[in-house]
Amino acid sequence: MTATSSSSSPGGGDHDGAELSARIERRWATLSVAIVVLFTAVAAFAGIHQAVMPQARVETINPTTLHLSGEFVESNLGSAVESDGSVTVRAIAQQYSFVPQCLVVPTDTPITIRATSPDVVHGLIIMGTNVNTMLVPGYISSLPMRFDRPGEHLMPCQEYCGVGHEGMWAKVKVIDKAAFHKLAADKRRLSCVDE
Ligand code: CUA
Repeated sequence: MTATSSSSSPGGGDHDGAELSARIERRWATLSVAIVVLFTAVAAFAGIHQAVMPQARVETINPTTLHLSGEFVESNLGSAVESDGSVTVRAIAQQYSFVPQCLVVPTDTPITIRATSPDVVHGLIIMGTNVNTMLVPGYISSLPMRFDRPGEHLMPCQEYCGVGHEGMWAKVKVIDKAAFHKLAADKRRLSCVDE
């Protein structure tokens, strides 16, 4: 009992060292548990927060009056050049077609596609891109996109919408920026349906 905890005794050095390292070990163990708890809390908060909050931007629209007035009247569908040089494409998905059936967009330009449905849930996916969204009656789906190269992409409906689902698809024609702006100078709204 004489040399148990005296730091000055010759044998006490090892003992103190062991105690010190045990203390350090406990401290690190506590810290690592705290880090795990912190990350779990952050992940849980982010997940729950996202699940309970509404989307940052939800745009609603009355599906029964789409054709009569507002943004999605037929004369307003297609591609429009905005004042900042970007392009907005508006389209409607209905059983069983897209209007317009062929979208024309320029290369190297920020493009926003805005679409909705007057009847049932449809979807659109532009093949070869990451543009993919559901089109739900009552809501406007809005997605950014950009094309580096001219070309054609198929845009099928990707949500089962009835017997004609298989045949419901459109096309996206990406043309050179200069050619697009030349076309846009003549028409208020562009599509490649007439070509
Ligand atoms: Cu529209 Cu499937």
